[in-house]
Amino acid sequence: MAAQQPIGVFDSGYGGLTVLKEIVKALPQYDYLYLGDNARAPYGNRSFETVYKYTLECVQWFFNQGCSLVILACNTASAKALRSIQQKDLPSIAPEKRVLGVIRPTTEVIGRYSSTNHVGILATTGTVASGSYPLEIEKFFPQVHVHQEACPMWVPLIENNEYLQPGADYFVQQHLKSLFNQSDKIDTVLLACTHYPLLKHKIAQYLPDGVTLLSQGEIVAKGLGDYLQRHPELAIVCSKNGSRRFYTTDSTTDFDNHAAAFFGEEVKSFHLDLELRSPDAQ
Ligand code: DGL
Repeated sequence: MAAQQPIGVFDSGYGGLTVLKEIVKALPQYDYLYLGDNARAPYGNRSFETVYKYTLECVQWFFNQGCSLVILACNTASAKALRSIQQKDLPSIAPEKRVLGVIRPTTEVIGRYSSTNHVGILATTGTVASGSYPLEIEKFFPQVHVHQEACPMWVPLIENNEYLQPGADYFVQQHLKSLFNQSDKIDTVLLACTHYPLLKHKIAQYLPDGVTLLSQGEIVAKGLGDYLQRHPELAIVCSKNGSRRFYTTDSTTDFDNHAAAFFGEEVKSFHLDLELRSPDAQ
């Protein structure tokens, strides 16, 4: 019998589950293995070196589990670690395996949603500072003006289950105001952090009329389907029994209590004990 080769889906915590949810809807036949590095989340304010180190460790774990394809369902990891992993690590550690992110499939299509050619990006501090969105959008839609706003409080509010509380409204309003102060021509706003769909209703409430609010799940799922069609050699090795397994580097009880809000159904997770050392530990 052929070995299990699930598709790996990674995030710093719960956010990637909003992407996995849409991937599973679009491509239910595949096996999926999810890892949330909750013990070290959030990644958003961490340095390039740290995000790269943590992400690479997790990618190696996926490879050890038999995955040939890993999706970084985290904008911060996609912005800060993906290129180094693809260019520097994969050729030596696993040249036949693939690691993909969420920024490329999103920037390939985002320009189609805007008629004013002004797009707003809401993301973590790390994603904004990386400049990945403006750089990538420029390649596909050079006419589009990109306005970015870092929302450092949003992931902690979500990870701590405070996103439905009235206090969250303050931070949502504050960042939308600051985004639209950059330009009142913005007609499309992207939630460029996979945690943010949980705040979607609150964000929609405070958006100016007529602005399209996009989250990435469906876009990434469609991009993955297209990618697998273009790469039948990879599609064929990914196992297809419709299984889903979930791992977290922190408490499985917490993970199982919170995951359903992101994934849309109950999950039963397993604990993964990565060697948790801070980057400057000896
Ligand atoms: N879901 C991650 C992203 O898309 C969250 C980042 C974090 O851990 O701060 O950027």
